Amino acid sequence: MWTIFYTILLIVSITEAKPRTDVTVSGLSSGGAMTAQLHLVYSSTISGSGVLAGPPYYCAQGSSTRVDECFQLQSYVSAGTADPTSNLKNDPVYIFSGRYDPVVFPDIVKLNRKVFSSFGTDIKTNYEMRTTHGYITDNFGGPCEFPDLKYFINNCSFNLAYDVLNHIFGGNLTKPTKSVPLTGQFLTIEQPALMNPESVNITVLKHTNIFSYWANWLKTSTNTYKLPGSIEISSVGSSSFDKEGYVYYPTNCTKGEKCPIHVALHGCEQGKWRIGDVFAKKTGYLEVAELNNIIILFPQIIATHSDPSNKEGCRDWWGYTSSNYANKLGAEMAGVKKMIDSLRAINDALDV
Ligand SMILES: *[C@@H]1O[C@H](CO)[C@@H](O)[C@H](O)[C@H]1NC(C)=O
Ligand SMILES: *[C@@H]1O[C@H](CO)[C@@H](O)[C@H](O)[C@H]1NC(C)=O
Ligand SMILES: *[C@@H]1O[C@H](CO)[C@@H](O)[C@H](O)[C@H]1NC(C)=O
Ligand SMILES: *[C@@H]1O[C@H](CO)[C@@H](O)[C@H](O)[C@H]1NC(C)=O
Repeated sequence: MWTIFYTILLIVSITEAKPRTDVTVSGLSSGGAMTAQLHLVYSSTISGSGVLAGPPYYCAQGSSTRVDECFQLQSYVSAGTADPTSNLKNDPVYIFSGRYDPVVFPDIVKLNRKVFSSFGTDIKTNYEMRTTHGYITDNFGGPCEFPDLKYFINNCSFNLAYDVLNHIFGGNLTKPTKSVPLTGQFLTIEQPALMNPESVNITVLKHTNIFSYWANWLKTSTNTYKLPGSIEISSVGSSSFDKEGYVYYPTNCTKGEKCPIHVALHGCEQGKWRIGDVFAKKTGYLEVAELNNIIILFPQIIATHSDPSNKEGCRDWWGYTSSNYANKLGAEMAGVKKMIDSLRAINDALDV
């Protein structure tokens, strides 16, 4: 009797779909465009997104405001370079545009709603704030109404990171109050190594000394650490990836708790090359992550003058890496996906 009960329970828990918040993504401006690209293309992996002051998917050609003219996703699905769009149904999507945004005009940002609603996603919009083009916080950045050319972060007495993540995670996250002790691990990681999931030795993680190996990695690598194995960056082609990026593991996630992964994408002029870890540390993601056990990955893009030409250090949303920039063959798309795969492999190993 009990055996049967437990067998049923086991089957139910095995066949239950992965938590739909296992991997999610958000980003500002060109990071918002990349967010839409990642969610729409990798929808079997990514299940929620926050498109913040970013243009809609595959819309860089010309200045068209007709979404159907710039829409290529279906042909990518047919070609196998994007996941089936049926995965997108009911996925949470948050769209933000400041009323005074002079960089990506509100009418352009709002086209994201047309794109995402055509797939039955669960959309929350934030279009009413009297603010400009930047990441909105309640405690850091320039005055709310004016472009902050230093960091593109604006203090508007509003916690955007919380609002985005709270929508993505179903509306039940703990909200940071005044000050949250960030007692987890903020890591500078080698992006090329993390883009090589094969280099995460699951055998070692699973059997030998999972906690002394990985937890030790978390404890000791306050600076740079290379995952074991060869670095294989050629597979992601010519891209603007920086050598280093950041990951935050909230306190409980360093102690073996399996935590969901959220990818937070900076916009142009916001990479490590220009503002260090300010985007990662001052936009409010870390406090929400710490209080709610969410691992945050901050992939970093660098400015490059040639091969590719990307002088402001933007995410590729118009094709500077290749014409496949918005599908699975795109260097920056594949690179972020590989970093996600590594973190998931490590998470899976933690599940023993
Ligand atoms: C953020 O804005 C509020 C309201 O204007 C202000 O009281 C606060 O001092 C500002 N904080 C910072 C760090 O600029
Ligand atoms: C939100 O959290 C409260 C308190 O833990 C719980 O009672 C409630 O069921 C949760 N709601 C959802 C939608 O998860
Ligand atoms: C992983 O580690 C195990 C144990 O040290 C070793 O036998 C195996 O060859 C490693 N695998 C890879 C792919 O490096
Ligand atoms: C972290 O774990 C401790 C000990 O289990 C628990 O008391 C605490 O509530 C957890 N924190 C979060 C944010 O889940």
